[in-house]
Amino acid sequence: MSNFLQLFHPFPLKVISGRGIYLTLEDGKEYVDLFSGLGVNLLGYNHPDILDALSETFPMHLSALLEHPLKEEVASDLTRITGFDKVFFSNSGTESVEGAIKFMWKWLERRGSNKKKVIAFRGSFHGRTLGSMTVTDILLHQRFPTLDLNTVFLPFGDKEAFTEEIEKGCDFVILEPIQGASGVIIAEQKFYETVSILHREFGFGLIADEIQSGLGRTGEFLASTLFGLDPDIVTLAKGLGGGLPLGAILLKEKIANSIKPGDHGTTTGGNYLSLRLSKVLIKNIEELLEHVKNLDTLLKDILIPNLLTNPKIREVRQRGLFIAIELKKDKSDEVKEILFEKGYLVNSIMKKTIRLLPPLIITIEELKSAIEELNEVIEGF
Ligand SMILES: Cc1ncc(COP(=O)(O)O)c(C=O)c1O
Repeated sequence: MSNFLQLFHPFPLKVISGRGIYLTLEDGKEYVDLFSGLGVNLLGYNHPDILDALSETFPMHLSALLEHPLKEEVASDLTRITGFDKVFFSNSGTESVEGAIKFMWKWLERRGSNKKKVIAFRGSFHGRTLGSMTVTDILLHQRFPTLDLNTVFLPFGDKEAFTEEIEKGCDFVILEPIQGASGVIIAEQKFYETVSILHREFGFGLIADEIQSGLGRTGEFLASTLFGLDPDIVTLAKGLGGGLPLGAILLKEKIANSIKPGDHGTTTGGNYLSLRLSKVLIKNIEELLEHVKNLDTLLKDILIPNLLTNPKIREVRQRGLFIAIELKKDKSDEVKEILFEKGYLVNSIMKKTIRLLPPLIITIEELKSAIEELNEVIEGF
């Protein structure tokens, strides 16, 4: 009997070691990891720069009451790259979203415009704690208690419904620029333009949850840039700590100015060791953006058109290395199992969809042969 409370459905073999995009499992075989620890291992496994950073650590943790240069260094890297003004660190994605809602609340309170009306989207996923769940459509059926907010869930990408709801009044909007957990759902450009225009015109707060879409996954550091969105707050996490728990909340000055010491806090968020890895990770991501853009072109020009000739595939949704292959039938679990036998780890969601979140270091050749293998396996169903 296991003492660990298992809440997921893991692959059947235990991990022995990892190297680059490969994991060796207990059968001694090397597997290609095409979902990089659910989007966390952006530099793959045992990246030399991450190993170096780990070997030079001095404290594992310094409390929030002590200053050290890394907080400022990582915050200034993030603001330099994204154009935001301030950064607050957290431990995880859901905690970044909780903090973002609290910061938004303080700003609204200061403006005197807090009517408790929030717009979120159908298919959204923002985390598993109670505040994040208040704006998470795909977990509402669990019926846990949520925050006392009037959250309206609109169809993602429906600009008419969005305009209508904004005209009725809204305090803030939270969206994933690309919805990850629902299967890489990308709206039409017109929708993002409408959000941006109304954001400027009506002045509601805008939170972009980039926990899955950010950090170079789409070929831009933030996916918001790709669509011309100008959010007031961005949430980050997943790979930000180079494999260690780390989240961040990026804030525009107008929001940061509404927050004072005591309004929010954390014990281990922005811990020394995570920040040390984060510094290395951010530097590597900046260097990899061009590579991801090249892979994006390869996917768009060659690999996806090939997939679309497969009669078993309904649709492929993709930006950079954020990829979903939707099948015509509910066969994604079976496809995942066959691919596993062939040495590939993929993520199956919503019964019909294979989601790929490959490490950003995957090479052209590795991506090409993985997609070709996947195509062949799907064809067999
Ligand atoms: C868009 C988005 N928001 C929030 C979260 C929650 O992050 P965490 O699991 O680190 O709490 C996730 C996790 O998958 C996510 O994809």
